[in-house]
Amino acid sequence: MKVIILAGGGGSRLFPLSRTLFPKQFLKLNGEESLLAQTITRFLPMVKPSDMVVVTNQEYVHHVRTELILAKAQGAHILLEPMARNTAPAVAFAAQYCLEHLGCQPDEILYVTPSDHIIRPIETFAANVRQAIGLANMDKIVTLGIRPNHPETGYGYMQAGTPFSGGFAVQSFREKPDLKTAEEYLAAGNYYWNSGMFAFAIQCFMEELAAYQPDIYELVQSGLDGMKENFTLMPNISIDYAIAEKSQKMVMLPITAEWNDIGSWDAIYDVLDKDLDGNAVKGDCIPIECSNTLILGHSRLIAGIGLEDILVVETNDVIVVAKKGESQKVKDLVCELKEKG
Ligand code: GDD
Ligand code: MG
Repeated sequence: MKVIILAGGGGSRLFPLSRTLFPKQFLKLNGEESLLAQTITRFLPMVKPSDMVVVTNQEYVHHVRTELILAKAQGAHILLEPMARNTAPAVAFAAQYCLEHLGCQPDEILYVTPSDHIIRPIETFAANVRQAIGLANMDKIVTLGIRPNHPETGYGYMQAGTPFSGGFAVQSFREKPDLKTAEEYLAAGNYYWNSGMFAFAIQCFMEELAAYQPDIYELVQSGLDGMKENFTLMPNISIDYAIAEKSQKMVMLPITAEWNDIGSWDAIYDVLDKDLDGNAVKGDCIPIECSNTLILGHSRLIAGIGLEDILVVETNDVIVVAKKGESQKVKDLVCELKEKG
């Protein structure tokens, strides 16, 4: 098994802490380790560093190097995409790298993982991964699924079909539905969230690329150097839209480890330790008569008085204050800032 760690995305949902030049995977949100370092650490009991490939681009390479040192995994490979083209080209690039540079055979299993999640405990997760590998060896594309507890529109949804070796055949896969559809899926009871992790044999993935993404497949045929030269021709598409929504070989395994995408300030609040009044506070902050409030200070003293259900995030240049439950709208703020230039 080779572990492919995707670390080239530039998410903005955790603005102002995550920025284009410092995205979520490099943030230390729940302790001393960045999410990328936690991802690497999670796999170290399962594979050697030299069996890991971190896929990123030039802009982030110095952060990746630092995190590999901190996670004591300097032997891991760093694969640089010429530019970010989303996860389908990133995974295709990594698969070809494994064939050409790591001596992998077409039946080698790749375990593809995002680098911006919290998953624990490690032992339970390792058992989930082992089971996923078993299914991937049956010519399947395996994803780990999570039982949804709210109608999240930022995730992919999988409809569980017939039982298959401890998991389920995926009857349908829908990436990031609108709110109404997400609510219907939640009510139906047989939909799971996609964790964004995939396990498959290289050959199986290549066959699905050939069938559903011929443009990417054609570039893969030109080998790693050809792909590098022509990366601008790669369609900008995620593996979810490119393969997962289309493939007939999808199998979903419900995850038994605890999974958190921590994709919003509300979600960060949920994972942080709280005081007796339900306040989660980091940095130089003084909450007075506050309750259920998040205050993340960075460069100055922050005092909150009488705050209830409020999120405050402060960086050198930006302070965001939001009502709890509304933090998904940070992405609207980022859009507005981009429009303003
Ligand atoms: N190398 C590389 N290149 N990595 C990338 C690129 C790219 O162009 N784009 C994104 N990534 C990395 C991100 O850094 C992250 O670790 C991972 O790939 C997933 O990308 P996100 O941009 O975070 O995807 P998402 O959160 O919107 O959606 C995915 O994850 C959800 C669960 O968190 C999908 O797989 C959803 O279906 C899933 O529910
Ligand atoms: Mg993500």
